[in-house]
Amino acid sequence: MSGKITFTMIKPDAVADGHIGAILGKIAEAGFKIKALKLTQLTVADAKKFYEVHAERPFYGELVDFMSSNPIVAAVLEKDNAVEDFRTLIGATNPADAAEGTIRKMFARSIGENAVHGSDSDENALIEASFHFAGKEIF
Ligand code: CMP
Repeated sequence: MSGKITFTMIKPDAVADGHIGAILGKIAEAGFKIKALKLTQLTVADAKKFYEVHAERPFYGELVDFMSSNPIVAAVLEKDNAVEDFRTLIGATNPADAAEGTIRKMFARSIGENAVHGSDSDENALIEASFHFAGKEIF
């Protein structure tokens, strides 16, 4: 059995477009329990560090600028098989390829401004959760 925790951000595009409530509703409907939640804004340094793994990619600068451009919602979510089930719920990175009914299909603007982040492994879920939240903020 995979882990029970994943980490998500509702990205600046979806926050600016007024989709926080609808996206949290889809997450709750899918059976995820919210363990931590906040509206916050990444600094350029935060975004560089969070996406360090993509530093050599051609879109890194654009990604950092976008992710630090406006507020985001950060959350820690709990469910059995959380990482995989959440990635299914959000759909493919490029909304043009995302399945009908997925969060990215419904709310994302483009591959770069793709509405939500979801951790790609149990290990990264814990790293990402502790990047954004102190232990006492996770319930
Ligand atoms: P995510 O999977 O949450 O984390 C890495 C992000 O990089 C990804 O979402 C996209 O927002 C972004 N990304 C991936 N591929 C591209 C691309 N070809 N052009 C711009 N941004 C991208």
